[in-house]
Amino acid sequence: MNFQDLIYTKRDGGILSETQIRWFIEKFTKNEIPDEQAGSFLMAVFFQGLNKEELNFWTDAMIKSGEILDLSKVGKPTVDKHSTGGVGDKISLPLCPLVASFGAAVPQLSGRGLGTFGGTLDKMESISGFNISLTNEQMIKQLKDVGVFITAAGVGLAPADRKMYSFRDVIGAVECIPLIASSIMSKKIAEGTKGLVLDVKAGRGAFMKDVNRARQLAETMVEIGNKAGVKTVALITQMETPLGKAVGNALEVSESLDVLNGKGPQDVIEITLALAKEMLNIAGINKNPETGLKDGSAYETWKKMIKAQGGDPEKPIPVSNNKKFIKANKSGYITDLNAYSIGLSAWRLGAGRAKKEDSVSKTAGIICLAKEGDFVEKDQPVLELHIDDVARVDFAIEALGNAFEISPEPKEKRKVILERIS
Ligand code: URA
Repeated sequence: MNFQDLIYTKRDGGILSETQIRWFIEKFTKNEIPDEQAGSFLMAVFFQGLNKEELNFWTDAMIKSGEILDLSKVGKPTVDKHSTGGVGDKISLPLCPLVASFGAAVPQLSGRGLGTFGGTLDKMESISGFNISLTNEQMIKQLKDVGVFITAAGVGLAPADRKMYSFRDVIGAVECIPLIASSIMSKKIAEGTKGLVLDVKAGRGAFMKDVNRARQLAETMVEIGNKAGVKTVALITQMETPLGKAVGNALEVSESLDVLNGKGPQDVIEITLALAKEMLNIAGINKNPETGLKDGSAYETWKKMIKAQGGDPEKPIPVSNNKKFIKANKSGYITDLNAYSIGLSAWRLGAGRAKKEDSVSKTAGIICLAKEGDFVEKDQPVLELHIDDVARVDFAIEALGNAFEISPEPKEKRKVILERIS
């Protein structure tokens, strides 16, 4: 096979054959294609896209580049969730144990955060002793015993994506719907789950800035999943304003614990319950998820999961004692609370990383003391900055220039869940 033919075909808007696609994914994974050629080819895909057939071959080749977990021994219906990421998005934390508390098995393989979104693993690591590296045997055992784990994907799972995602990051080819869809779905399908609910975020605090692009991504992923035999549904949810009040690793764990104890912010509860309803439905469990938050069974499952993974659920979640407040400069209603500015500011405080190798602060972050629709008095604190490293504060505050808007009249409340794609 002459690799230049593949580059010319895609560059000029042609269609790749199954053989060409499988050949590329195999050689790319084995580092047998020079970087300049792989970069040029992926950039051609970025601009020309992949049609449905090409995308199915592409995703299948990525799945088969590594191991496929067999969860059939678990003896429970398997269903997982994936979010495309947003500011304050801690939903996996209450959601996964909630769904498991009804008898489903939730194999949550997560990632670390990059850029302004925190990763689920970073949040879980703010829990004392929690181990995010389970072996395949430990995963199966925990699904049988507890019904849920939250862990890192092993190196054997979709290695083509592991390489391609960081490669795309370096060459500037991340924001491409077929490449994002195949990247996410190859990992989820290889994980062995039989059902999947996607939370595709739309807005300035998300990957997809507008609903039309979010819908295209959701439809593409739902189609890939269902074609591969994984029953897949997507909700498109708004990410113009932060989800909940807490943004930052340990802060988000504490807010998740509130939700697991039947409290917490209304928007977090609404998305958790909507996703739980979809997951239970896919798992064939006809129950109202709200009861699991109210009667403590979701929290019990959370504690079992933390213990099973070496953590101590009774130990307090770490919190910074160095705080700074950003106050209202006049009285009125909060009519805009900008997810992008708040995510960027929390990231600059140390809650997120710029490079894969960077470490993150457990305690740095922001609490939104007031949310859109709330009335604030002049000089009332609106944002509470949690500081781990004082040298970062000025740079973090600079990001908050347009973080909120105060008006004499309230604005219509934003919808949290925008669309459902199945
Ligand atoms: N998340 C992924 O896993 N892959 C992408 O390409 C983008 C977001």
